[in-house]
Amino acid sequence: MIDTIKLPLPQKDLTFPLMKALEKRRTIRKWKNDPLSDQELSNLLWAACGITKEETKRSKSKRTSPSACNSQSIKIYVAIEKGLFLYDEKEHQLIQILSEDIRENIGTQKTMHSAPVGLIYVSDFSKMKNFLFRNDEQRWFFSGADTGFVSQNVYLYCAARNLSTVVLGLVNREKLHKVIGLKEHEKIILTQVIGYSLNE
Ligand SMILES: Cc1cc2nc3c(=O)[nH]c(=O)nc-3n(C[C@H](O)[C@H](O)[C@H](O)COP(=O)(O)O)c2cc1C
Repeated sequence: MIDTIKLPLPQKDLTFPLMKALEKRRTIRKWKNDPLSDQELSNLLWAACGITKEETKRSKSKRTSPSACNSQSIKIYVAIEKGLFLYDEKEHQLIQILSEDIRENIGTQKTMHSAPVGLIYVSDFSKMKNFLFRNDEQRWFFSGADTGFVSQNVYLYCAARNLSTVVLGLVNREKLHKVIGLKEHEKIILTQVIGYSLNE
């Protein structure tokens, strides 16, 4: 059954010193089994690539993360126990894509399968039409760069909120592509797992 989860508004007034977040930012491969609260997911996804400036008739919206030519080709699929969802940043909601738990496909390392949340960074090459993206090599290059910014936003949010996270390059992209049912022009770049830290 297709379902939509309307996320609570992101808590944009949360405070944590940026310099401390940079200092604390770390890859941590252990977490609690508890699912993330909807509020935590809301904040995390907004931090990743939420809207910071609405679109107007003349200009496209802006996000927390930069993208080459503001292509905004990166979209985030969210794998949780309840299924697979697509983050719709315009409406700040999660659109259900699958009702199965697909987290065992998030990365090839077994430890990653137990993470409560798996983010899948997918680049939609059909959104990369500018002269800058003249061939697939360029599209892959800029998709990798743009994903790095999204992932770092997630890392910094996790550092500020005592969450564990790991960005993953070790992914069976071909299999995951099939599991999600992606189209040819949709490319999996990286994935990233998140969970509450074991350290209080
Ligand atoms: C593009 C990229 C891919 C990565 N892939 C993996 C991975 O598949 N599995 C893993 O355990 N860590 C992965 N990492 C995490 C790195 O191992 C980690 O960032 C590095 O050891 C430095 O640790 P730090 O992030 O705590 O500074 C990846 C990091 C980056 C930037």
